[in-house]
Amino acid sequence: MSLARPNIQRIQGYVPGEQPQEAGWVKLNTNENPYPCSPLVVEAIERAARGRMNIYPDPVSTSFRRAVGELFDIDPDWVLPANGSDENLTILLRTYADPGELVAYPYPSYILYETLADIQGAEHERMRLNPDWSWNIEQACETTSRAKLVFVPNPNSPSGNRWDDETICALIPPQGLLVLDEAYGDFADKPHRMELLKGDYGSKIIVTRTLSKSYSLAGLRLGFAIAHPEHIEQMRKVKDSYNCDTLALAAGTAAIEDQQWMLDNTARIKATRARLTTRLQELGFAVVDSQANFVWSTHEAHEHQTLYEALKSRKILVRFMQFPEAHVDGLRITVGTDEEIDTLLDALADIV
Ligand SMILES: Cc1ncc(COP(=O)(O)O)c(C=O)c1O
Repeated sequence: MSLARPNIQRIQGYVPGEQPQEAGWVKLNTNENPYPCSPLVVEAIERAARGRMNIYPDPVSTSFRRAVGELFDIDPDWVLPANGSDENLTILLRTYADPGELVAYPYPSYILYETLADIQGAEHERMRLNPDWSWNIEQACETTSRAKLVFVPNPNSPSGNRWDDETICALIPPQGLLVLDEAYGDFADKPHRMELLKGDYGSKIIVTRTLSKSYSLAGLRLGFAIAHPEHIEQMRKVKDSYNCDTLALAAGTAAIEDQQWMLDNTARIKATRARLTTRLQELGFAVVDSQANFVWSTHEAHEHQTLYEALKSRKILVRFMQFPEAHVDGLRITVGTDEEIDTLLDALADIV
């Protein structure tokens, strides 16, 4: 008999996308950046590794918070670095959601919110999106009126679409906080510069960002939350003392300081995204207009699982996703290099 808490026994646990360890795969399943990180990041890691690795890292990540503060023109007290955005999502739940309080998020969207709410013992509710990925605002507001925390990924995953600021503000819970998960924010045509946080609703919103996607650092594990210092102060009490290690902080600071590298890569990805979208449509797929580094595609004439398996047998990995309660399934395809996308498109042309 398991001694684990009942709500841990009840849940499945989050299942991340496949990470094959052998070479030879075209890997388009977990929204990583296909391009390497800035060489300045590698130099910073080497320098840090030759430095004082025998002592604990800076518990308040001073240099990284300063770099983020300069980038967004905010005080470093507004920034909480974490071991990936996922850690900040956990910190948020532990800081704000007592067992029994309501946590809400759109559906279909990032499945981890639900898993984390379950682990925390919070109540949770899915806010069902319309088939065109828009909101039924009236219905959603009925839920948010009872919620302590509302998570909204923008751009959304798996769809890649982005909702406007007016919609986001309408989802702010009157008695709680809205977590705006901008993991893919840098791939949008007009990336946010934290305007919402600086506006009238600023004290009700917490933005989370990651270096996993636009900065090509998924292997490093570094993200950050931005919010009014009163929120950051509470969240800081919940985090591990040394939640970001010396190498990650050195690398993250160098990455943030080399904006041109990130902007060049996101521009390349956006150009490839446009080409991928057009070609998939020519092959008969319906493709959502994406503001992220992946596209959501469905095909009326083919089973999506069969397409996924046919691609996998050719060593091309995409993400087959199912959201049964919304009767939605499809393929989420990460935008890879032009060469990888050509390989995928050739294979799909052959299969469909
Ligand atoms: C919507 C969303 N939020 C957060 C994350 C996690 O980011 P990180 O790698 O920083 O933990 C992901 C990763 O896929 C994501 O899709």
